[in-house]
Amino acid sequence: MKKILIIIFLFLLSSCRSDFITFKKNISSYKSYNPNHLKDYYELYKTNNSYILTLNLINHPTFYTTSYNQIYYNDILLVNKLHGLTKDFIPKNLVEVKNINFVKRTNEIMMLDKVALTNLELLFMDAKSQNIDLLLYSAYRSYDKQLSLWKTTPTFDNLYKAVPGYSEHQTGLAVDISTIDEGLTSTKTKAYEYLEKNAYKYGFILRYPKDKTDITGYAYEPWHFRYVGSISTFIYENNLTLEEYIYNYIEIKQ
Ligand code: DAL
Ligand code: ZN
Repeated sequence: MKKILIIIFLFLLSSCRSDFITFKKNISSYKSYNPNHLKDYYELYKTNNSYILTLNLINHPTFYTTSYNQIYYNDILLVNKLHGLTKDFIPKNLVEVKNINFVKRTNEIMMLDKVALTNLELLFMDAKSQNIDLLLYSAYRSYDKQLSLWKTTPTFDNLYKAVPGYSEHQTGLAVDISTIDEGLTSTKTKAYEYLEKNAYKYGFILRYPKDKTDITGYAYEPWHFRYVGSISTFIYENNLTLEEYIYNYIEIKQ
């Protein structure tokens, strides 16, 4: 009996050891691996089974709470209250919005990233085929435009308005969409119901969902969508914010 117990014990010990060796081999192949944290990584990995999340949690425990001086994670541009753009950041591929319904303002040309606009046009066409006449209220906003909006807002509510340099509209990838009748309201509109189910098919995600304010820093904005390209389906299907997608699935190298 004693002999059997010793054999079982040795077997368990060797399988733990080989799990650890495999773990170490795998995790050390990542660029952000830090040998000083090996034990912490291993303990955490046992609970979440994800190398990337483990590395990010240990290497960047304050991702959701402190400022970062980086804005690209792989090729994903992240702008939020902790990731800002410089005053002179102007997106490279801005083009003029022409072929869809948009709000025309004096002395203003509505602009958007070229690829985002091509996809937005398809989204608007699809909505139209379902008798929903979408209207683009806002697209690219320069730093100066955001500054003037910020200054002219009488009661500055930082749950809805971004500080200049920290607005996603400055990326040329964000849009505010609704219909002419419904406007920008946080009630569940017909436009929103359509967008909620379909925007991701064209590369857009709802950027500030309900119940995610603690992560995004902003209140629910059913009109604000962000073009993210092909990762939109994954984000939509897994009910993630852009921050959660990056933190869980992209290795933060810095
Ligand atoms: N409404 C969003 C947060 C912005 O001002 O960019
Ligand atoms: Zn917006």
